[in-house]
Amino acid sequence: MSKVRRVWVCQQCGHQAAKWVGRCTECKAWNTLVEEVQASGSPSGRATPGAPAASPVPLSQIAMDRGGEVRLRTGLGELDTPLGGGLVAGSLVLLGGDPGVGKSTILLMACERLARRGPVLYVTGEESLQQVRMRADRLGVTADRLLLLSATDFTEVERVVGEMSPIVVVVDSVQTVWVPELQSIPGSVSQIREVAHRAMLLAKGGRTAVFLVGHVTKSGELAGPKVLEHFVDTVLYFEGDGRSSLRILRSVKNRFGATGELGLFEMAGDGLREVPDASARLLEERLPDTAGTVVVAAIEGTRPLLAEVQALVGRPGMQMPARTTVGVDRARVSMLAAVLGKVGLHLHDRDLFVNAAGGLRLIEPAADLAVVAAIVSSLQDRPVPEDVLCFGEVGLVGEVRNVTQPGVRLREAARQGFRRVVAPAHACADAPAGVEVVGVRSVRDALSALF
Ligand code: TYD
Ligand code: MG
Repeated sequence: MSKVRRVWVCQQCGHQAAKWVGRCTECKAWNTLVEEVQASGSPSGRATPGAPAASPVPLSQIAMDRGGEVRLRTGLGELDTPLGGGLVAGSLVLLGGDPGVGKSTILLMACERLARRGPVLYVTGEESLQQVRMRADRLGVTADRLLLLSATDFTEVERVVGEMSPIVVVVDSVQTVWVPELQSIPGSVSQIREVAHRAMLLAKGGRTAVFLVGHVTKSGELAGPKVLEHFVDTVLYFEGDGRSSLRILRSVKNRFGATGELGLFEMAGDGLREVPDASARLLEERLPDTAGTVVVAAIEGTRPLLAEVQALVGRPGMQMPARTTVGVDRARVSMLAAVLGKVGLHLHDRDLFVNAAGGLRLIEPAADLAVVAAIVSSLQDRPVPEDVLCFGEVGLVGEVRNVTQPGVRLREAARQGFRRVVAPAHACADAPAGVEVVGVRSVRDALSALF
C-alpha cells in the first residue's frame, strides 16, 4: 500500500512546503501555494518502481488506428457538432459556462439519448435527486438506464463506476466534488485538479466517457474551469448573453475534431431546442431599412453563419467619447475607426458602440468590412439595403483583404436570399447563381458599393 503524502506546491517556482503559507519562501510570490497529493514511492507523473520501463518507438512503426475511435452520437446534432461528430468513448470533456446558462439541462437531455446505447451515470453534487427529477419531468426525460447518484466524495463515484461500467458519466459539477486525501475545500484549485486527474484515469481506464461540468466565475481563471483546460480532451463553453434565450455551445479545444465549432440552442419552457438553421435565427430580429445594421457572412469552425453587426455613432456629452464593443474586439474597432479617419470619416469626437447581435462573438477579421459599414451607416444615417451583405478583412491603409472560404460564405448568403455581396475581389470567382458579387479592393470602393 502506498502512503498518501500531502504537499503544498508553489505554482510559480515549484517549491514544496509541508504546510500552507501565504508567501513562497523560495520565490517570495504571494498566494501561489496549492495543495497536492503524492503517493510515496510514486510521485505523480513518474513510473512506479517495478513497472516495465517505457521505451521509445520509431515514428514509422506506430500503428495509426485511424477511425479506431468509437463515437457515440448524442442524438443532439448541435452538441455532436462541437464535439467533433459525437462523443468519443474514453474521452474527458469539460462543459463550462455561467451558472444558469443550461449546462445541467443539455447534459440531462444528452444522457437520455445516450442511455439508449448503454448505462449512463449522472452524478449530482449540486442539486438533490428530487431537483434533478423535477428537471427531468419538465424535459420529458425518462430512461431506465440513466442512473442518478447524489454524491460529493469522488471515491464514491469511482466505486460506482467500477461496479456499473457506464458508457458515460456526468459529474455536475466539478466544483462540488472532492477527494478525501486533500484537506482543501471543494472547489479549490487543488481539489478541482485532483478530481479532474482522477476523472481522466476513469475515462482512460475503460470505454467510459466523462463529462465534467464547471461553472465559470466572472474572472474566469481562479478555481474555475480554466485550470482544467490542459487536462481534458475537449473543452466546450456554453454561452448566452442573459438577454435572449439563444445559447451558443462552442468548442475551444478538441483533441478529436476542429475547434471553434459551434452549436446553437434556444432555451424554452420545456428544455433546450436545437437551432439547426443558425443564420435564419440570427437574422430573424433584424429591422429592415434601418441605419447602423449590416449583415456579415462569417465562418464559425467549419460552419457558415450570417450575423448582424450593429453600430451606433453618437455625440458624447461632457466626458470623453465612449468606445464600447460587445462580441467584437475593441482594439480592432479602434483600428477600423482610425482607418475611417484616413478616408475622411472622423470619429475621434464621437461615441462609438459596436455590437454583434444575438450574443455571438465575431472574432475573425472577415467581419471587419461589416463593422466599418455599420459604423458608416450609423454615422451618415444611411441604411444598407436589406438584401445586401458584406465580408472582408480591412488593412491599415484601407485595403480590403482576402478571407478564407469565400465560396462557403457566398453560398450561405444565396441560401438566405441575399442578392448582392460586397467582398474582396478574389471572391468573384466563387459567385453562386442569383448573387451579384461586387469585388472591392479598398474601403472607399466598398462604401460606394454598399450605399
Ligand atoms: P440549468 O440547466 O440548471 O443551468 P446550469 O446547470 O448551467 O446552472 O438551467 C437553468 C435555467 O434554465 C433556469 O434559470 C431555468 C431555465 N430553464 C428553462 O427555461 N427551461 C427548461 O426547460 C429548463 C430545464 C430550465
Ligand atoms: Mg446545473
